[in-house]
Amino acid sequence: MLHVSDIHAYYGQSHVLQGVSLDVGKGEVVSLLGRNGSGKTTTLLTIMGYLSPAPGAITWDGQQIGGLPPYRISRMGLGFVPQERGIFPSLTVLENLTVAARRGLRGEWTLDRVLDLFPRLRERAANRGSQLSGGEQQMLSIGRALLLNPSLLILDEPSEGLAPLIVQEIIAILHEVRAGGLPILIVEQNIRAAFAVASRHYILSKGRVCFTGTTDELRDNEAALHQHLGV
Ligand SMILES: Nc1ncnc2c1ncn2[C@@H]1O[C@H](COP(=O)(O)OP(=O)(O)OP(=O)(O)O)[C@@H](O)[C@H]1O
Ligand SMILES: [Mg+2]
Repeated sequence: MLHVSDIHAYYGQSHVLQGVSLDVGKGEVVSLLGRNGSGKTTTLLTIMGYLSPAPGAITWDGQQIGGLPPYRISRMGLGFVPQERGIFPSLTVLENLTVAARRGLRGEWTLDRVLDLFPRLRERAANRGSQLSGGEQQMLSIGRALLLNPSLLILDEPSEGLAPLIVQEIIAILHEVRAGGLPILIVEQNIRAAFAVASRHYILSKGRVCFTGTTDELRDNEAALHQHLGV
């Protein structure tokens, strides 16, 4: 469904992505791993249209999306949960969700269904984004992305900075989402979280893919784990 082919990205003179290719198939959950600064966020920002993929190509459902603006890419069904979460701090939980629902496509994800998935958000419905804990902000960000009724969910380090118990909650939520058949592309540094949700993995190092394989293949590849992930 998502096909990323040999994309490059630059920040000024700095050649950050040096030919990244990856695929996410129907119903598949794929992780993108790598150390700090390896280019994970840059890859997602390029897929989402915030950066140009030049040269390279990105196709989604057979259509070229490379170079389209982010709002069009999101309307084509790519739901994005950015690393900095992207919620509105001055709006309440309910307002954050309603704004997302209004922008979204119609589909199975309604406000009620999202609040069923995240009972904590239901409890906090009247609180402002800025009053939420890190875990609640992450849940709100995922809820907002689901309300777009995406055909692919893309998350940038959803476990970052969260306590282990909250990470477990997020993983359980992603399991539910995956069980519904929604494919997921997840960036992680937390290898246990990646193993818990994804079945196939890519490792980035200095803007290049240096490993690709299944969970079992990566578990058995101590060199890749040690050299590129520091575990
Ligand atoms: N706006 C920017 N301007 C200049 N350089 C940038 C910018 N954003 C990122 N970089 C550089 O590009 C490289 C890749 O950054 P990127 O944010 O994609 O890494 P990452 O793998 O997501 O890291 P992290 O795990 O810390 O989030 C790094 O060397 C980073 O310093
Ligand atoms: Mg990042």
